Amino acid sequence: MRLLARASGPIQGRTRPPGDKSISHRALILGALAEGTTEIDGLLEGEDVLATAAAMRAFGAEVTQAGAGRWRVTGRGGLAEPAAPIDFGNSGTGVRLTMGAGAAFPLTAVYTGDRSLSRRPMARILDPLEAMGARTLSRTGGLLPATVRGGTLSPIAYDSPHASAQIKSAILLAALGADGVTRVSEPKASRDHTERMLAAFGATVRSETRADGRHLVSVTGRPKLRACPVTVPADPSSAAFAAAAALIVPGSDLILEDVGLNPLRAGFFDTIADMGAGAQVLDRGETGGESAGMIRVRHAALRGVAPPDQRSAAMIDEFPILAALAAFADGETVLSGAAELRVKESDRIALMVEGLRACGVDCEERPDGLVIHGRGAGGVPGGAEVRTHGDHRIAMSFLVLGLAARAPVIVDEAEMIATSFPDFTGFMRALGADIAEA
Ligand code: S3P
Repeated sequence: MRLLARASGPIQGRTRPPGDKSISHRALILGALAEGTTEIDGLLEGEDVLATAAAMRAFGAEVTQAGAGRWRVTGRGGLAEPAAPIDFGNSGTGVRLTMGAGAAFPLTAVYTGDRSLSRRPMARILDPLEAMGARTLSRTGGLLPATVRGGTLSPIAYDSPHASAQIKSAILLAALGADGVTRVSEPKASRDHTERMLAAFGATVRSETRADGRHLVSVTGRPKLRACPVTVPADPSSAAFAAAAALIVPGSDLILEDVGLNPLRAGFFDTIADMGAGAQVLDRGETGGESAGMIRVRHAALRGVAPPDQRSAAMIDEFPILAALAAFADGETVLSGAAELRVKESDRIALMVEGLRACGVDCEERPDGLVIHGRGAGGVPGGAEVRTHGDHRIAMSFLVLGLAARAPVIVDEAEMIATSFPDFTGFMRALGADIAEA
């Protein structure tokens, strides 16, 4: 499906973006691992999360939908061997976390995914699981399909080469089956939803910054996990698209409710503030152990920025929309410290450069980011059809760009947006965005 976005009237209203994808996956997985019934409110019903729900059923948990966003997961205090290979579709988080969780039990599972997921690196998960004593097999050199045979694992101390919550979480979940304390360090802290939720379900989890600056998390194996209600805040990564639209469309004034503001996810809001944005947190509170708040965003003149590399993990999924915003800024924006973007649902650095150039915006590709020469408000030509390689965030970023470009922008493979933001078009249209099928 191709979608087209054209210059729109003001983006305005008051709305709640869909539930957080990262927290939704974890709620289903921990619900399946725990004993008892976990009630989840605000679950994201996107394709990625639904794949994890189906996977948890295949591992023996009872997973039912009680209403819109309301789900119940009854775990048996452990996972059972699935009868068939498990297809995670497009979801890197789903497959990586589940490979870790599955390794903690005496079962063999085969993991598969779609074309994009089958190109993404899995050795980063399989290798530490092997080190813990699981047996893994990938006939494609560390890609899917992969088989993991779990059992009694040994605790390890693992220094991850990447600040990746998926790697960290897979090890922490596998560590639930190890006798003793498992330690994972990462170059800087990545999102900590797994740690927060594990603690809420009864595990002992500790985090600290090591003397060498690395972030260290440890978990004690074989805890008794107890079902625990989870309220999922709105996804800051989805909120970012609506916020960006409000920033670049003249006259906009938008309120986004209940947006997750976990500091390890909030880098986008810090960066738009540096760009001169009128974004304000109106009210901050707690939703299920995660901070959340109401954010007001108004149209603003933006300036180019060079966010510190230290911030990149806290906005790793927002680089595409930040690159689109930078096109409307005055001056140059340097996005760096994000080589991981090359192994997301697509090579996001290459695709943003290609798409921005097609839309008449000068930019340069760097190994770990890109430099965008902003054209200022009203100065982005647009008028292109952008290739997304089936990457939901590339598609949404260029649709937002099209809302303030001089000529309409078309994106291909827009059906993939449903992996993370099921009714993106309806949501944006209700706020005043002119997005329609091309
Ligand atoms: C996620 C972690 C990030 C992020 C992804 C979701 C998670 O990936 O890009 O969209 O829920 O743990 P990495 O851990 O690979 O950085």
